[in-house]
Amino acid sequence: MNTYTLNSGSKIPAIGFGTWQIEEGEPAYTAVYEALKAGYTHIDTASVYGNEHGAGKAIQDSGIKRENLFVTTKLWNADRGYENTLVAFDKSLALLQMDYVDLYLIHWPANETQFENWESINADTWKALEQLYTEGRAKAIGLSNFPKKYVEAILKVAKVFPAVNQLEFHPGFLQEETIAFCKSKDILIQAWSPLGSGRILQNEVIVSLSAKYGVSVGQICIKFALQEGINPLPKSTNPSNIKANLEINNFSLSNEDIQAIKNIGELGFSGLNPAEVPF
Ligand code: A2P
Repeated sequence: MNTYTLNSGSKIPAIGFGTWQIEEGEPAYTAVYEALKAGYTHIDTASVYGNEHGAGKAIQDSGIKRENLFVTTKLWNADRGYENTLVAFDKSLALLQMDYVDLYLIHWPANETQFENWESINADTWKALEQLYTEGRAKAIGLSNFPKKYVEAILKVAKVFPAVNQLEFHPGFLQEETIAFCKSKDILIQAWSPLGSGRILQNEVIVSLSAKYGVSVGQICIKFALQEGINPLPKSTNPSNIKANLEINNFSLSNEDIQAIKNIGELGFSGLNPAEVPF
């Protein structure tokens, strides 16, 4: 599996397995188990997904050595702030049945629509992540759904720079300003919903590229993210899609085709604007 190197120095497998909306218990266990069997070594979960226990159990049962896997989880919004974050992190570790994670993220920033003091809330939360990093219980720390202005506010107070910013990214939703800024600061972009949660897979540009390269529409989206230097986190509960989403090494999109994807225009946006969401 190819890797990216984080600004913390650790390596992260270039494709991760996303688990959003995969239910706790049997569904999460089976999907993660299948993903590990198919060759994924990078599992992305979150406290709010409610599936940390199933994901963790599949990891234990896979027989793969912990040090050969990369596991991410995220702090939920109700747990922001220094003390609350430390408590929430311990709960996540217990559910995952692990003594460290490879990456811990602030899932969504406290935003200016909800909080006058959004900057200090995010700074306090970040301070807790820095402590977890210093203790070695989170091998890397980062952000998720932070627009440029919110990343800048963290960088003003950070002693440890965020290693990643995990954003909605897919053909039809490119977040160019935030992504260019993060890249300029050596912050890796991870893509949630790299297939637009299925909403973009009938697009005629994607469909025609899938025919041209003889691969699936999902594989076109994943390759697009990788060729943009982004870490895609596709999710699936279908074993053949789980497998196919890793099999993208036998083709490369031409520059013209990358440009054609960039020219699609806005499509398939989830509607979740981090500066305005009410949660
Ligand atoms: P399924 O679970 O049946 O595979 P995203 O990662 O952008 O949120 O997209 C996830 C959605 O895309 C799921 O509904 C998943 O359905 C579907 N999906 C995942 N991989 C593929 C693929 N290779 N081709 C088509 N659909 C896919």
